[in-house]
Amino acid sequence: MTPMLARTLAGLAAARATLPAPVTLVPTMGALHHGHRTLLRTAHEHSGHTGSLVVSVFVNALQFGSGEDLDRYPRTLERDVAICAEEGVAVVFAPDATQMYPGGAQQITVNPGPVGRLLEGASRPGFFDGVLTVVLKLFNLVRPDVAVFGQKDAQQLFLVRQMVADLNLPVDVVAAPTARDLDGLATSSRNGYLSQAGRVSALALSRALRAGAEAADGGPAAVLAAARPILAEAAVADPPLVADYVNLADPRTFAEVGAGYSGEALLLVAAKVGDTRLIDNMPLTLGGGI
Ligand code: PAF
Repeated sequence: MTPMLARTLAGLAAARATLPAPVTLVPTMGALHHGHRTLLRTAHEHSGHTGSLVVSVFVNALQFGSGEDLDRYPRTLERDVAICAEEGVAVVFAPDATQMYPGGAQQITVNPGPVGRLLEGASRPGFFDGVLTVVLKLFNLVRPDVAVFGQKDAQQLFLVRQMVADLNLPVDVVAAPTARDLDGLATSSRNGYLSQAGRVSALALSRALRAGAEAADGGPAAVLAAARPILAEAAVADPPLVADYVNLADPRTFAEVGAGYSGEALLLVAAKVGDTRLIDNMPLTLGGGI
């Protein structure tokens, strides 16, 4: 089935009116890869046989800081539509910036609150304001019953859920598992920026997460002690992996867990290889340590 391609708000409204419920939205910035296929398959599980899938493809300038990769971010709409056709998507909504931000700079934006200033928010000021603003706009335009976000962007997922709860938005937010390539690298549209050697350096991220998870019984200190040396080793590789953070967070609050914490946690890592910023995370169950 070839999806309807809506390039304008009017086109989306016309397409939306024909869609059988429940409508499930998968927001993306395009350059679809097999991680997005996981999102789409999760979306199908939630929309069942009768429902319909909408994929948005929009490279949202509002969530890019100055000096980030807005200009070189891959734009592959024809291929994205072909992937959506293979995955049974009903509508691809691919507006340009004049449709989404007709007045140019947005006057009103979503404040992501304190969690939005931690981790990714600390390293990329304004990032989550931009993400939540466009997600809220997409929710208002598409009016989905369900929206699917990847667990790989765990802080984004947390903040979208927080926005839905705090602003009483009538959308069920569903998480899709992180897809990984065979070598362990979490799939990302930005992986395409990496050289072969850069990719080898980047693999330290998933190795650090696995080492941390294996040490989970020993508690927070043991996890960090297992993960950090792997990143330190990659810091002297060619090209070097420059770690931004390694953090253990309580998934219910996103607050950093203290030394005595036990229970569910998220081990989160972020780093740059050259100009390419990569993030990854792994859920684990922490023992109390010794
Ligand atoms: O995760 C992404 O691709 C983007 O942050 C999103 C949710 C599509 C908003 O632009």
